[in-house]
Amino acid sequence: MQDELLTYILYKMKKILILVIAVSMISINAKAQSTTTATATGQDLILEPVDGGGMPLLEVLKERKSIREFNPQEIEPMRISRLLWAANGENRPDEHKRTAPSARNSQEIEVYVFLNSGIYKYMPEDHQVKKIRNGDFRKQVLKQDMNMDAPMILVLVANYDKMKGFEIADRDFYSAIDCGYVSQNIYLCCESEQMSTVAVGQIERDKIAKLINLKNGKVMIAHPVGSR
Ligand SMILES: Cc1cc2nc3c(=O)[nH]c(=O)nc-3n(C[C@H](O)[C@H](O)[C@H](O)COP(=O)(O)O)c2cc1C
Repeated sequence: MQDELLTYILYKMKKILILVIAVSMISINAKAQSTTTATATGQDLILEPVDGGGMPLLEVLKERKSIREFNPQEIEPMRISRLLWAANGENRPDEHKRTAPSARNSQEIEVYVFLNSGIYKYMPEDHQVKKIRNGDFRKQVLKQDMNMDAPMILVLVANYDKMKGFEIADRDFYSAIDCGYVSQNIYLCCESEQMSTVAVGQIERDKIAKLINLKNGKVMIAHPVGSR
């Protein structure tokens, strides 16, 4: 009887031990995942998945505006993640389709991210940001007389390699329209996130093209972004 009791107690203790190990493994794993946020300290930025949320669309539209003053502090990783996804991320990954429409689904508008740590390119297919150059080039984006010190500048670029079937006039016309959708997405997400932004056409197109090694395309507009 005593042996049976001892076996039973040992059996229960074993079960509790397994449970404790399992719980601690789950919490270690969860901690590791929660620290895998967007940081610019390494090479590429690791973006968190976007979780929805934000202000109702009609309220955002009521408030949308250009703001030319920026809080210089770095933008939180989750807000960068949301903003890039809203700008031109994949909202139907099964079909590789985007939050912004594009003529003949050419998806030629690409988003480059200028931070103090370097220049990055947003990759919508895997919602990641790939570093393409080290260094702080933010001061080389806007024309010199513009005094907008934002912690991040998004630069929208039309990649003409993705528009091979278009006549030249059509290509210029449609890429300008497609760029407008991405720009508006940025405006709306910034309002929803209570961040400042303005579309800026007065930019150093040739300098930027060299910095990002653009061979066949056009640097369209920039969006400095920062907290309010
Ligand atoms: C294509 C485009 C280019 C723009 N370029 C500049 C610019 O170079 N500098 C600037 O301060 N604002 C620029 N803006 C912002 C406009 O001045 C602004 O949208 C307009 O004054 C209306 O104000 P709102 O955006 O607050 O409604 C641009 C806007 C667009 C759509």
